[in-house]
Amino acid sequence: MDQVYIMDHPLIQHKISMLRDEKTGTNEFRKLVEEIGILMGYEALRDLPLEDVEVTTPLETCMTPMVSGKKLAVIPVLRAGLGMVNSILTLVPSAKVGHVGLYRDPETHEPHEYYCKLPESIDERIAVVVDPMLATGGSAVAAVDFIKQKGGKNIKFMCIIAAPEGLKKLHETHPDIQIYCGHLDRCLNANAYICPGLGDAGDRIFGTK
Ligand code: PRP
Ligand code: URA
Repeated sequence: MDQVYIMDHPLIQHKISMLRDEKTGTNEFRKLVEEIGILMGYEALRDLPLEDVEVTTPLETCMTPMVSGKKLAVIPVLRAGLGMVNSILTLVPSAKVGHVGLYRDPETHEPHEYYCKLPESIDERIAVVVDPMLATGGSAVAAVDFIKQKGGKNIKFMCIIAAPEGLKKLHETHPDIQIYCGHLDRCLNANAYICPGLGDAGDRIFGTK
C-alpha cells in the first residue's frame, strides 16, 4: 500500500515483543513506548525538508543543511498517544504539541471526541499524529478528520500496533496521509481488541484499571 510503512527494524520488533508481555509493568511499559516512538519517529521523519544555512566552523564558513519550514506539530490521541509525545520531542525539541481527546465507546467501539486543541497555523506544519493502537481505525480517522477540518494538510500517523481492519480504514479514508506502523497484527477480536496485541494501551501506560 502506497503511503503505508510497516517497520522492520529488529530493535523495534524486540521492544514490541517486550510490550506485549503481560508481565511488563507500567514503568517499563511507558519507557518502551517512548523508546519505540523514538525509533519509529527517526524513520517517519526521514523526509523532513532541509535548507542550506550558513554556519561558521572553527575553520571556515560553509553552507550546510538544517531542517526548514514551520515547526513540526506532534498531536497525541488522548490518552495513550501521550506516551509517544516525548519520543518526537526528543528528536525535534522545538515541535509544538496539540491534543485530540477521543475515547472508544465500550459497546459500539465508536470514537467520541472530548477535546481538540492544535497549534496555530496547523496548515503550514507537518502534523505527526501519535497513538500506540490502530484497532478499528475509528479513532485515527476521527483524529485526522479534526486536524483536516482545522486546516492540517501534511499529516503523518504513527502507531505501534495496527490491525489490518484499522489500517485499511485509515488508508482508504485518508489516502493522502503517511501511516507508520511498528507491527501489523493478525486481527481484531469480538471486543475490537487487537490480537495478539498488548491489551489496553492507555491502562498499561497509566496504570489504570
Ligand atoms: C485506544 C487507543 C486508540 C483507540 C484505538 O484508546 O489508544 O485511541 O483505542 O481503537 P480504534 O482504532 O478502534 O478506534 P481508548 O479509546 O481506549 O482511550 P484511552 O487511550 O483513553 O484509553
Ligand atoms: N485500544 C487498545 O488500547 N488496545 C486494543 O487492542 C484496541 C484498542
